[in-house]
Amino acid sequence: MNRVGGIGAIGNTPVIRLERLVDEDCAEVWVKLEAANPTGSYKDRMALAMIEAAEADGRLQPGQTVVEYTGGSTGSSLAFVCAVKGYPLRIVSSDAFALEKIRTMRAFGAEVELIHSPEGITPELIPAMMERAAEIAAEIGAFATDQFNNTDMVDGYRRLGEELLAQLPGDIDAFCAYIGTAGCFLGTTRALRKAIPTLRRVAVEPGESAVLSGGTPGTHHIEGGGIGRRPPQLDPSDFDEVIAVPEADAFAMARKAALAEGVFSGPSTGANLVAARQLAGRLGPGHRVVTVQVDSGLKYLAGRLYT
Ligand SMILES: Cc1ncc(COP(=O)(O)O)c(C=O)c1O
Repeated sequence: MNRVGGIGAIGNTPVIRLERLVDEDCAEVWVKLEAANPTGSYKDRMALAMIEAAEADGRLQPGQTVVEYTGGSTGSSLAFVCAVKGYPLRIVSSDAFALEKIRTMRAFGAEVELIHSPEGITPELIPAMMERAAEIAAEIGAFATDQFNNTDMVDGYRRLGEELLAQLPGDIDAFCAYIGTAGCFLGTTRALRKAIPTLRRVAVEPGESAVLSGGTPGTHHIEGGGIGRRPPQLDPSDFDEVIAVPEADAFAMARKAALAEGVFSGPSTGANLVAARQLAGRLGPGHRVVTVQVDSGLKYLAGRLYT
Protein backbone atom coordinates (compact mmCIF):
# COMPACT_ATOMS: atom_id res chain seq x y z
CA MET A 1 0.00 0.00 0.00
CA ASN A 2 1.14 3.46 -0.95
CA ARG A 3 0.79 5.22 2.41
CA VAL A 4 2.95 8.25 1.88
CA GLY A 5 2.93 11.55 3.76
CA GLY A 6 0.22 12.31 6.28
CA ILE A 7 -1.72 9.20 5.30
CA GLY A 8 0.62 7.17 7.50
CA ALA A 9 -0.57 9.17 10.51
CA ILE A 10 -4.20 8.00 10.34
CA GLY A 11 -5.42 6.09 13.40
CA ASN A 12 -3.75 5.07 16.67
CA THR A 13 -5.53 7.91 18.43
CA PRO A 14 -5.51 8.37 22.22
CA VAL A 15 -8.37 7.51 24.56
CA ILE A 16 -9.05 9.46 27.76
CA ARG A 17 -11.35 9.12 30.75
CA LEU A 18 -13.74 11.95 31.58
CA GLU A 19 -12.97 13.08 35.12
CA ARG A 20 -15.11 16.16 35.65
CA LEU A 21 -18.22 15.68 33.53
CA VAL A 22 -19.11 12.34 35.11
CA ASP A 23 -20.16 11.94 38.76
CA GLU A 24 -18.62 9.38 41.12
CA ASP A 25 -21.79 7.31 41.36
CA CYS A 26 -21.73 6.73 37.60
CA ALA A 27 -19.90 4.34 35.29
CA GLU A 28 -16.55 5.40 33.82
CA VAL A 29 -16.79 7.28 30.51
CA TRP A 30 -13.89 6.95 28.07
CA VAL A 31 -13.57 9.02 24.90
CA LYS A 32 -11.50 8.12 21.83
CA LEU A 33 -9.91 11.35 20.64
CA GLU A 34 -10.33 11.13 16.89
CA ALA A 35 -9.45 14.79 16.37
CA ALA A 36 -5.88 13.49 16.52
CA ASN A 37 -6.22 12.23 12.94
CA PRO A 38 -4.52 14.36 10.22
CA THR A 39 -7.63 16.34 9.17
CA GLY A 40 -8.95 16.37 12.72
CA SER A 41 -11.69 13.78 12.21
CA TYR A 42 -12.35 10.03 12.31
CA LYS A 43 -13.41 10.32 8.69
CA ASP A 44 -9.73 9.99 7.67
CA ARG A 45 -10.07 6.30 8.49
CA MET A 46 -12.99 5.72 6.14
CA ALA A 47 -11.68 7.92 3.31
CA LEU A 48 -8.49 5.88 3.24
CA ALA A 49 -10.44 2.60 3.41
CA MET A 50 -12.75 3.58 0.52
CA ILE A 51 -9.85 4.63 -1.73
CA GLU A 52 -7.52 1.74 -0.92
CA ALA A 53 -10.23 -0.90 -1.43
CA ALA A 54 -11.18 0.63 -4.80
CA GLU A 55 -7.52 0.79 -5.84
CA ALA A 56 -7.04 -2.83 -4.84
CA ASP A 57 -9.89 -4.25 -6.93
CA GLY A 58 -9.55 -1.87 -9.89
CA ARG A 59 -12.74 0.18 -9.41
CA LEU A 60 -10.46 3.21 -9.16
CA GLN A 61 -7.85 3.70 -11.87
CA PRO A 62 -4.69 5.85 -11.58
CA GLY A 63 -5.57 9.52 -12.08
CA GLN A 64 -9.33 8.88 -12.26
CA THR A 65 -11.61 11.53 -10.77
CA VAL A 66 -13.40 10.68 -7.51
CA VAL A 67 -16.82 12.13 -6.66
CA GLU A 68 -18.67 12.30 -3.33
CA TYR A 69 -21.61 14.03 -1.59
CA THR A 70 -20.65 15.14 1.90
CA GLY A 71 -21.36 17.49 4.76
CA GLY A 72 -17.67 18.23 4.60
CA SER A 73 -16.00 15.88 7.07
CA THR A 74 -15.84 12.93 4.70
CA GLY A 75 -15.01 15.45 1.99
CA SER A 76 -12.09 16.93 3.92
CA SER A 77 -10.67 13.47 4.59
CA LEU A 78 -11.25 12.33 1.02
CA ALA A 79 -9.67 15.53 -0.34
CA PHE A 80 -6.61 14.89 1.86
CA VAL A 81 -6.26 11.24 0.77
CA CYS A 82 -6.95 12.06 -2.92
CA ALA A 83 -4.44 14.92 -2.89
CA VAL A 84 -1.65 12.70 -1.57
CA LYS A 85 -2.54 9.83 -3.90
CA GLY A 86 -3.05 12.03 -7.00
CA TYR A 87 -6.78 11.66 -7.71
CA PRO A 88 -8.80 14.74 -8.76
CA LEU A 89 -11.88 15.12 -6.51
CA ARG A 90 -15.34 16.57 -7.19
CA ILE A 91 -17.47 17.29 -4.10
CA VAL A 92 -21.16 18.10 -3.69
CA SER A 93 -21.84 19.79 -0.34
CA SER A 94 -24.00 22.56 1.09
CA ASP A 95 -23.85 25.88 2.89
CA ALA A 96 -25.76 24.13 5.71
CA PHE A 97 -22.38 22.80 6.86
CA ALA A 98 -19.35 24.44 8.46
CA LEU A 99 -17.46 26.86 6.24
CA GLU A 100 -14.20 25.50 7.64
CA LYS A 101 -14.93 22.12 6.08
CA ILE A 102 -15.70 23.63 2.65
CA ARG A 103 -12.45 25.57 2.83
CA THR A 104 -10.51 22.49 3.92
CA MET A 105 -11.75 20.54 0.90
CA ARG A 106 -10.70 23.38 -1.38
CA ALA A 107 -7.32 23.66 0.41
CA PHE A 108 -6.67 20.03 -0.54
CA GLY A 109 -7.52 20.83 -4.17
CA ALA A 110 -11.09 19.50 -4.43
CA GLU A 111 -13.63 21.13 -6.73
CA VAL A 112 -16.61 21.88 -4.46
CA GLU A 113 -20.19 22.54 -5.56
CA LEU A 114 -22.68 23.80 -2.92
CA ILE A 115 -26.43 23.24 -2.63
CA HIS A 116 -28.09 26.20 -0.93
CA SER A 117 -29.87 25.22 2.33
CA PRO A 118 -29.82 28.20 4.70
CA GLU A 119 -32.40 26.61 7.08
CA GLY A 120 -29.96 23.86 8.07
CA ILE A 121 -29.98 20.11 7.46
CA THR A 122 -33.46 19.53 6.03
CA PRO A 123 -34.79 16.06 5.14
CA GLU A 124 -34.48 16.99 1.45
CA LEU A 125 -30.84 18.10 1.54
CA ILE A 126 -28.90 14.80 1.59
CA PRO A 127 -31.03 13.19 -1.20
CA ALA A 128 -30.45 16.30 -3.35
CA MET A 129 -26.69 16.10 -2.76
CA MET A 130 -26.66 12.38 -3.56
CA GLU A 131 -28.55 12.95 -6.78
CA ARG A 132 -26.16 15.66 -7.96
CA ALA A 133 -23.09 13.53 -7.15
CA ALA A 134 -24.55 10.61 -9.13
CA GLU A 135 -25.17 12.98 -12.05
CA ILE A 136 -21.54 14.15 -12.02
CA ALA A 137 -20.24 10.57 -11.80
CA ALA A 138 -22.31 9.55 -14.82
CA GLU A 139 -21.35 12.70 -16.76
CA ILE A 140 -17.58 12.39 -16.40
CA GLY A 141 -17.08 8.69 -15.63
CA ALA A 142 -15.82 9.39 -12.14
CA PHE A 143 -15.50 6.85 -9.34
CA ALA A 144 -18.33 7.51 -6.88
CA THR A 145 -17.30 6.62 -3.33
CA ASP A 146 -21.02 6.90 -2.37
CA GLN A 147 -20.34 6.81 1.36
CA PHE A 148 -23.81 5.79 2.52
CA ASN A 149 -23.74 2.62 0.42
CA ASN A 150 -20.00 1.92 0.62
CA THR A 151 -19.17 -1.18 2.68
CA ASP A 152 -15.40 -0.54 2.61
CA MET A 153 -15.90 2.57 4.72
CA VAL A 154 -17.46 0.48 7.50
CA ASP A 155 -14.41 -1.80 7.46
CA GLY A 156 -12.26 1.31 7.82
CA TYR A 157 -13.60 1.72 11.35
CA ARG A 158 -12.88 -1.81 12.55
CA ARG A 159 -9.40 -0.70 13.51
CA LEU A 160 -10.91 1.96 15.78
CA GLY A 161 -12.65 -0.83 17.69
CA GLU A 162 -9.49 -2.95 17.75
CA GLU A 163 -7.49 -0.01 19.11
CA LEU A 164 -10.06 0.42 21.90
CA LEU A 165 -9.78 -3.24 22.85
CA ALA A 166 -6.01 -2.88 23.14
CA GLN A 167 -6.21 0.46 24.98
CA LEU A 168 -8.94 -0.52 27.44
CA PRO A 169 -8.26 -4.08 28.51
CA GLY A 170 -11.02 -5.57 30.62
CA ASP A 171 -14.65 -4.95 29.93
CA ILE A 172 -16.43 -2.29 27.93
CA ASP A 173 -20.13 -2.35 28.80
CA ALA A 174 -21.55 0.11 26.30
CA PHE A 175 -20.52 2.02 23.20
CA CYS A 176 -22.49 4.93 21.80
CA ALA A 177 -22.05 6.99 18.65
CA TYR A 178 -23.96 9.56 16.60
CA ILE A 179 -25.33 8.07 13.39
CA GLY A 180 -24.67 9.56 9.95
CA THR A 181 -23.75 6.84 7.49
CA ALA A 182 -23.45 4.62 10.63
CA GLY A 183 -19.94 3.65 9.46
CA CYS A 184 -18.17 4.49 12.72
CA PHE A 185 -20.91 2.88 14.80
CA LEU A 186 -21.04 -0.33 12.74
CA GLY A 187 -17.29 -0.83 12.20
CA THR A 188 -16.45 -0.12 15.83
CA THR A 189 -19.26 -2.18 17.38
CA ARG A 190 -18.52 -5.13 15.08
CA ALA A 191 -14.89 -5.17 16.21
CA LEU A 192 -15.85 -4.71 19.88
CA ARG A 193 -18.59 -7.34 19.79
CA LYS A 194 -16.11 -9.96 18.54
CA ALA A 195 -14.32 -9.70 21.89
CA ILE A 196 -17.28 -8.57 24.05
CA PRO A 197 -20.51 -10.28 22.95
CA THR A 198 -22.51 -8.53 25.71
CA LEU A 199 -21.57 -5.01 24.58
CA ARG A 200 -24.57 -2.65 24.56
CA ARG A 201 -24.64 -0.78 21.24
CA VAL A 202 -26.33 2.58 21.53
CA ALA A 203 -27.12 4.70 18.47
CA VAL A 204 -27.31 8.47 18.95
CA GLU A 205 -29.50 10.81 16.88
CA PRO A 206 -30.84 14.39 17.01
CA GLY A 207 -33.99 14.91 19.10
CA GLU A 208 -35.32 17.10 16.30
CA SER A 209 -35.07 14.30 13.70
CA ALA A 210 -35.44 11.17 15.81
CA VAL A 211 -36.36 8.71 13.08
CA LEU A 212 -34.44 5.75 14.57
CA SER A 213 -36.56 6.26 17.72
CA GLY A 214 -39.69 6.14 15.56
CA GLY A 215 -40.15 9.92 15.29
CA THR A 216 -40.56 12.10 12.22
CA PRO A 217 -37.76 13.66 10.15
CA GLY A 218 -37.00 17.27 11.00
CA THR A 219 -34.50 20.08 10.58
CA HIS A 220 -31.56 20.33 13.00
CA HIS A 221 -27.96 21.55 13.27
CA ILE A 222 -25.98 18.54 14.55
CA GLU A 223 -23.75 18.13 11.51
CA GLY A 224 -22.84 14.69 10.25
CA GLY A 225 -26.05 12.76 10.87
CA GLY A 226 -29.77 12.90 11.49
CA ILE A 227 -30.44 12.57 7.79
CA GLY A 228 -34.17 11.98 8.21
CA ARG A 229 -34.13 8.22 7.55
CA ARG A 230 -32.28 5.11 8.67
CA PRO A 231 -29.00 4.94 6.72
CA PRO A 232 -28.98 1.96 4.32
CA GLN A 233 -26.25 -0.05 6.04
CA LEU A 234 -27.76 0.20 9.54
CA ASP A 235 -30.16 -2.67 10.25
CA PRO A 236 -32.39 -2.44 13.35
CA SER A 237 -30.61 -5.58 14.63
CA ASP A 238 -27.31 -3.61 14.66
CA PHE A 239 -28.24 -1.55 17.73
CA ASP A 240 -29.72 -2.29 21.15
CA GLU A 241 -30.99 1.19 21.97
CA VAL A 242 -31.30 4.69 20.56
CA ILE A 243 -30.73 7.90 22.51
CA ALA A 244 -32.15 11.05 20.92
CA VAL A 245 -30.30 14.20 21.98
CA PRO A 246 -31.86 17.66 21.46
CA GLU A 247 -29.45 19.90 19.57
CA ALA A 248 -29.38 22.50 22.37
CA ASP A 249 -28.07 19.80 24.75
CA ALA A 250 -25.48 18.62 22.21
CA PHE A 251 -24.23 22.17 21.66
CA ALA A 252 -24.13 22.92 25.40
CA MET A 253 -22.23 19.70 26.10
CA ALA A 254 -19.66 20.41 23.38
CA ARG A 255 -18.94 23.76 25.05
CA LYS A 256 -18.86 22.24 28.53
CA ALA A 257 -16.51 19.43 27.47
CA ALA A 258 -14.06 21.96 26.03
CA LEU A 259 -14.00 23.94 29.28
CA ALA A 260 -14.14 21.12 31.81
CA GLU A 261 -12.10 18.39 30.13
CA GLY A 262 -10.25 20.04 27.25
CA VAL A 263 -12.18 17.87 24.80
CA PHE A 264 -12.60 20.45 22.05
CA SER A 265 -15.01 19.24 19.41
CA GLY A 266 -18.24 19.75 17.47
CA PRO A 267 -21.97 19.22 18.06
CA SER A 268 -22.00 15.50 17.16
CA THR A 269 -19.36 14.84 19.81
CA GLY A 270 -21.52 16.87 22.19
CA ALA A 271 -24.41 14.49 21.39
CA ASN A 272 -22.14 11.47 21.98
CA LEU A 273 -21.10 12.82 25.37
CA VAL A 274 -24.69 13.55 26.43
CA ALA A 275 -25.64 9.96 25.55
CA ALA A 276 -22.53 8.51 27.23
CA ARG A 277 -23.30 10.38 30.47
CA GLN A 278 -26.88 9.13 30.40
CA LEU A 279 -25.65 5.56 30.00
CA ALA A 280 -23.04 6.01 32.73
CA GLY A 281 -25.72 7.24 35.15
CA ARG A 282 -27.84 4.22 34.39
CA LEU A 283 -25.06 1.61 34.53
CA GLY A 284 -23.44 2.92 37.72
CA PRO A 285 -19.97 2.36 39.22
CA GLY A 286 -17.92 -0.64 38.14
CA HIS A 287 -18.97 -0.26 34.51
CA ARG A 288 -17.40 1.36 31.51
CA VAL A 289 -19.00 3.40 28.70
CA VAL A 290 -17.01 4.34 25.59
CA THR A 291 -17.73 6.93 22.95
CA VAL A 292 -15.82 8.98 20.38
CA GLN A 293 -14.76 12.55 19.92
CA VAL A 294 -15.72 12.69 16.25
CA ASP A 295 -13.68 15.71 15.26
CA SER A 296 -11.93 18.90 16.33
CA GLY A 297 -13.66 22.05 17.54
CA LEU A 298 -11.39 23.94 15.13
CA LYS A 299 -13.85 22.88 12.40
CA TYR A 300 -16.64 24.85 14.08
CA LEU A 301 -15.05 28.16 15.07
CA ALA A 302 -16.80 30.22 12.39
CA GLY A 303 -20.26 28.92 13.28
CA ARG A 304 -22.51 29.57 16.27
CA LEU A 305 -21.21 26.74 18.50
CA TYR A 306 -18.38 28.74 20.08
CA THR A 307 -19.69 32.29 19.60
C1 LIG B 1 -19.26 15.74 12.28
C2 LIG B 1 -19.79 14.35 12.11
N1 LIG B 1 -20.26 13.70 13.18
C3 LIG B 1 -20.76 12.45 13.07
C4 LIG B 1 -20.82 11.79 11.86
C5 LIG B 1 -21.42 10.42 11.78
O1 LIG B 1 -20.49 9.43 11.43
P1 LIG B 1 -20.88 8.20 10.57
O2 LIG B 1 -21.10 8.66 9.16
O3 LIG B 1 -19.74 7.26 10.66
O4 LIG B 1 -22.14 7.61 11.14
C6 LIG B 1 -20.33 12.44 10.73
C7 LIG B 1 -20.41 11.81 9.41
O5 LIG B 1 -20.44 12.48 8.41
C8 LIG B 1 -19.79 13.74 10.86
O6 LIG B 1 -19.33 14.41 9.80
